Amino acid sequence: MRVLVTPDYQALSQTAAELVLKAVRAKPGIKLGLPTGNTPLGMYEELVRRYRIEQLDFSQIQTFNLDEYVGLTNDHPKSYHRYMRRHFFDHVNLLPANIHIPEGSPGVDLDAEAVRYENQIRKAGGIDLLIVGVGANGHIAFNEPGSAFDSRTRAVDLAAETIRNARQHFGNDPVPARAITMGVATILEAGRILLLASGVSKADAVERALHGPVSASVPASALRLHPRVIVLLDESAARQ
Ligand code: GLP
Repeated sequence: MRVLVTPDYQALSQTAAELVLKAVRAKPGIKLGLPTGNTPLGMYEELVRRYRIEQLDFSQIQTFNLDEYVGLTNDHPKSYHRYMRRHFFDHVNLLPANIHIPEGSPGVDLDAEAVRYENQIRKAGGIDLLIVGVGANGHIAFNEPGSAFDSRTRAVDLAAETIRNARQHFGNDPVPARAITMGVATILEAGRILLLASGVSKADAVERALHGPVSASVPASALRLHPRVIVLLDESAARQ
């Protein structure tokens, strides 16, 4: 595990984008695992900026998002489908057929969807580089504390803390209580993993993930079982 500490959020975002672009240059048909949340916003912005300036070609890239809320239509303004379009997909030449996000919209058979999603990843030959954030409670994707390390894509209940934290995005609308997420084992099967954490609210989770026991009570600690992980922090997230 390599730990890189950047001075601030802007440097973290630029470094993350640079690592992704380096991987894309080395393998134009790369399969990327992609996160949502506040943390990767700067990375997506920088990727779009560099895409324009350097006239890059993303048409061979395949993407697999980590997770999606259950119960929101794909067009719901707070769905991760919409987030990805707004912040990344609408601005680059990724092919719609190469974009994969688990489906949590109303009426979807979540068990069948989980199997379908795992098969899609397998059919693509697996994820080469997976980028992931961390929740203040140590979750990765929507694998909340207690998630087994052999868990795969499935529907899950969100932790109370996660729901509280998501309220900033939902205003007066109800926050979904469930999500569909890649499992810990799905994440650990990626060839390489880039963990991003920014801000003092993540310092405790980062410290427990890197230095506490490797345990299902801190899902991010599972990353220590993977041979090729880069942990990219800003100074506040690295404080402890
Ligand atoms: C949500 C997402 C996670 C993300 C986490 C932290 O729970 N499902 O993938 O890592 O939020 O989000 P933020 O970056 O906004 O702190």
